[in-house]
Amino acid sequence: MKNIVLIGLMGSGKTTIGKLLAQKLGLNFIDTDSIIEKEANKTINEIFENYGEELFRKLESNTIKEISKREEKVISTGGGIVENPENMQNLRKNGIIVYLEAGPKELYERIKGDNNRPLLKNNPKDTLKNLFEKRSPLYKQADIIVNTEHKESYEIINEIIEKYKNYAK
Ligand code: S3P
Repeated sequence: MKNIVLIGLMGSGKTTIGKLLAQKLGLNFIDTDSIIEKEANKTINEIFENYGEELFRKLESNTIKEISKREEKVISTGGGIVENPENMQNLRKNGIIVYLEAGPKELYERIKGDNNRPLLKNNPKDTLKNLFEKRSPLYKQADIIVNTEHKESYEIINEIIEKYKNYAK
């Protein structure tokens, strides 16, 4: 079985849904941001602050290259991976890509007050809107798109599984 790779903006639910989906399917769960933090022994905030976004993106791409070799995993990714086409090519090798879609207003409501996202330190509302506009066409290159607005986790998970079955037929 191929990996199931979750992509989407910050707050789209990749980690929460990924963990639950992995549990339901009896697969291991991998989160790219957690791997980067573990290997660097620093938080994402610290990496951005001390070394800048460019280094973070390099670490991110290296991590993706490595985990793309694995199989039968549910993989949750950082929201920015779609900006580097090489990341998508690598993830597609062994994986089916699922976009967890939500609009910027809903995303803002979900993540306001959360300080773990360096890109949203200043003007989070506008930043989310701009990132949504810039990245939407890239996210939509996914194999499967699931709109997550006004849905419970179990509904999203069931929808992913249904669409995955049809896709894999
Ligand atoms: C980023 C999203 C974050 C994290 C980093 C950059 C982005 O991950 O990788 O702060 O560029 O959208 P989440 O999408 O899991 O919040």
